[in-house]
Amino acid sequence: MPDFLDVKDSRTGTSRQLAITDGAIRAADLQQLSATPGDHGLLSYDPAFMNTAACRSAITFIDGDKGILRYRGYPIEQLAEKASFLEVAWLLRHGELPSQTQYDAFVHDITYHTYVHENLKTFLSGFRYDAHPMSMLCSAVAALSSFYPESKDIFDPVERNISIVRLVAKVPTIAAFIYRHMKGLPFVYPDNDLSYGENFLSMVARMSEPKYRSNPVFTRAIEILFILHADHEQNCSTSAVRGVGSSHVDPYSAVAAGIAALYGPLHGGANEAVLRMIQEIGDKARVPAFIEAVKGGSGRLMGFGHRVYKSYDPRAKIVKRLAYDVFESVGMDKDLEIALELERIALADDYFVSRKLYPNVDFYTGLIYRAMKFPTSFFTVLFAIARTAGWLAQWEEMLLDKEQKISRPRQIYIGSPERPYQRTLTGPAGR
Ligand code: ACO
Repeated sequence: MPDFLDVKDSRTGTSRQLAITDGAIRAADLQQLSATPGDHGLLSYDPAFMNTAACRSAITFIDGDKGILRYRGYPIEQLAEKASFLEVAWLLRHGELPSQTQYDAFVHDITYHTYVHENLKTFLSGFRYDAHPMSMLCSAVAALSSFYPESKDIFDPVERNISIVRLVAKVPTIAAFIYRHMKGLPFVYPDNDLSYGENFLSMVARMSEPKYRSNPVFTRAIEILFILHADHEQNCSTSAVRGVGSSHVDPYSAVAAGIAALYGPLHGGANEAVLRMIQEIGDKARVPAFIEAVKGGSGRLMGFGHRVYKSYDPRAKIVKRLAYDVFESVGMDKDLEIALELERIALADDYFVSRKLYPNVDFYTGLIYRAMKFPTSFFTVLFAIARTAGWLAQWEEMLLDKEQKISRPRQIYIGSPERPYQRTLTGPAGR
């Protein structure tokens, strides 16, 4: 017996039954509720899509109350501990873990697409050295579209596959070139003998060593952080990729839109803000006063709270353990001590407990990235490298979903009614 929602429209006195499927009603069913014959029917009004499912997705599952995150059914904790980032990238897209043959072929494909067209180096060299790296990344990824015009053929599975492989392979190379450009250092080409994460660190940090090997703790940390950031269902940047991709533009342009969304301080920029906050506090002894100030309304405890997680963000637990490993390798840092003290005091304070404010993934990631010597402005670029895998899995799922069309929200018009044009300019209007 299907479930229904009984609704009575007091404007007309009519009653309707709206089918409930998967805990949702279809907004289109509201169109049955017309106030006057022939009008559009009832709209649902949901600014910021706080309570609207825009798709059916089989990729990522989150239960914010219980602190659960799974990719394709696999708990994030197990993937972070046991999988490689490329295994996760494959899993996100294909829905199943790869066989050895599939994995080897995928790693081969990714490895052999890490190089970028030489003209892209010229393109990047045109930016000022102090340009924000996210701005450079967004432009460079959008520019990739011009190198691969055949990628517009998004319904050809071969073209779609090669575009996805190219993006997962080339975004770390572009990111590393941007890093070198910021530092005024020569670009380092990919080393195809290295793993995905270590090759990235090599392109970032290699100087004159004939063979670069990164600190193994850093290689493991970057791999785990990439896994943790690879997808997070319908967040702002993923919705941007899906929304822009729904116009059937090529995937480079759609991913560039995701990068633009991620650049925003309310989305990918929080780990920078955590680091700035910790540096402003400056000393563990000042933490209680800082917490009191937050409770008094002066700013927020950055890295705490989440729109979806109302318990400990499962990614934050993993990142906290990772922070210990990294700091054991590079030496304990007073900023980590401040972070631990902030967390200890906040988690025992009724203000934070009653509002269900727990550390989110960004609380410790900035500390790790800084310990690895990445500049603060580069943190979001690292996020973007990882999220490229999730964006592309979501983009392809959207394209192959028969229910999806060009994304086109409605509005409730609150502007002026029709009025005649009356000139307000006193000088020439230029026409
Ligand atoms: N510090 C202090 N108080 C907070 C915090 C915080 N970090 N976060 C929320 N609150 C308080 C609010 O003041 C509000 O209190 P009130 O009920 O007395 O008015 C209550 O908790 C609910 O807050 P909302 O803003 O309604 O919660 P929302 O779900 O909209 O916000 C958000 C979530 C934006 C993440 C928020 O918790 C925040 O600003 N956190 C700090 C920034 C941050 O760490 N962002 C990273 C998010 S993770 C990511 O994007 C990868």
